[in-house]
Amino acid sequence: MARRIWIFDTTLRDGEQTPGVALNAEEKLEIAKQLAKMKVDVIEAGFPVASKGDFEAVKKIAENVKGPVIAALARANFKDIDAAWEALKYSENPRIHTFIASSPIHMKYKLRMSPEEVLEAAAEAVKRAKCYTADVEFSAEDASRSDVEFLCRLFSTAVKNGATVINVPDTVGYSTPEEFGELIRTLRERVPELDRVVVSVHCHDDLGMAVANSLAAVKNGATQVECAVNGLGERAGNASLEEIVMALVTRKDVYDVEVGVDTRQIYRTSRLVSSLTGIYVQPNKAIVGANAFAHESGIHQHGVLAERSTYEIMTPESIGLPSNRIVLGKHSGRHAFFHRLKELGYDVSEEDALKAFEKFKDLADRKKEVTDEDIEAILGEQMAAIPKVLELEYFLVSCGNQSIATSTVRIRKGDRVVEEASTGDGPVDATYRAIDRACGVACRLVDYSIKAVSGGKDAMGEVVVKVERDGRIYTGRGLSTDVIEASALAYVNALNKSFVNSGETGSR
Ligand code: KIV
Ligand code: ZN
Repeated sequence: MARRIWIFDTTLRDGEQTPGVALNAEEKLEIAKQLAKMKVDVIEAGFPVASKGDFEAVKKIAENVKGPVIAALARANFKDIDAAWEALKYSENPRIHTFIASSPIHMKYKLRMSPEEVLEAAAEAVKRAKCYTADVEFSAEDASRSDVEFLCRLFSTAVKNGATVINVPDTVGYSTPEEFGELIRTLRERVPELDRVVVSVHCHDDLGMAVANSLAAVKNGATQVECAVNGLGERAGNASLEEIVMALVTRKDVYDVEVGVDTRQIYRTSRLVSSLTGIYVQPNKAIVGANAFAHESGIHQHGVLAERSTYEIMTPESIGLPSNRIVLGKHSGRHAFFHRLKELGYDVSEEDALKAFEKFKDLADRKKEVTDEDIEAILGEQMAAIPKVLELEYFLVSCGNQSIATSTVRIRKGDRVVEEASTGDGPVDATYRAIDRACGVACRLVDYSIKAVSGGKDAMGEVVVKVERDGRIYTGRGLSTDVIEASALAYVNALNKSFVNSGETGSR
């Protein structure tokens, strides 16, 4: 029987370390539920000791997400491990993931610890975690730049003290596939204790080899792969989940392993993560990029029409991309809309489906054809909905190439309505300044991006902003066929997140 490879998703932990990404607890829960639906084996939900927000998010996921193992990260000290357990303890499958660096450079300059002290700390950390849960993962940070003899001693110690998963990270993405595969094989040969635990790998993409390194590890006996949706993660990111899974599934002839992931949920998961993190997926990204299944040249189109396998090594349906691109319009009824939602893989409550239908109708009045991308955008926005402390009731913009942009906005804060105006460096700047005045907040726009959800001049614009308020970054998203309105909605959405986070009611 084929070996089973565990897919350990770290989108919510390492992925959240992507520069500019800041998810709140509700957003993390939303993603965790989708990961569970996709049937990953482990969800690393966060690093509880890092912040109150991280702690709350891990706790929420531990309490609400059933199916996968829920892991929380902890350095090799009691404070971190106790916090990880406090957050995890309501999970039906909790795992504490503790780590300490093992490379000479990390031990000397970062930890200022001798190898013997690191061995001792690892043993104590695993023992402490083991008091709380049977499922304990131990990672040797920067393993790929560590002395192999020392790594063997460290892993043997961790297993003897109760670790059930041993993780070998290529923390700085330095390894090559040949080296990394060789490292896993050597560890397996020299550490007999590894035969009774799960051997995991965690590769970063600094040289663009994270997926190749992980697959080389699988070839050499690794049984768990840590990865993140859309390849998110620290610096250049982690091995991309969708690439790992589809490589193992599509090239079963090479790897001869099984995974438990429902690949038909990959596309939706990628879209959800992209929309909530505000990190767009590059069009030529393998598996989930917009062009991954698009055939541009005539020769390719001809080939695919005659026989799909001429240029397609996997089907779009296998990752959940619907093949028949039905276009709905203002004459489409509730039945057709609900049917399309089902085909797109959305399993939402009747209440949510009705809400989405209202938005669809509204959009169909402004736009001739409503595409699958539009429907996904509507659902994505709705699923990420947060309490509206502030609401944009109205805006009026005047601008041109010979005039100073001016914007007037009316914002509702509970039962109070405030109207303010401002000039600015263009219509978006003027609108943002007017919103700041109306809300009485001081914040800084850190990032702004806009993209068309689908093709055509009447396409919806999707704006994603990152706004800094009181030292924290909030991501906001707005959708409209009017790009100034989308910009204003995104900004108000980010402010609402900041208000919810600080428990403010919005009244001055
Ligand atoms: O990259 C790394 O080494 C990590 C560990 C904490 C597993 O993220
Ligand atoms: Zn990492």
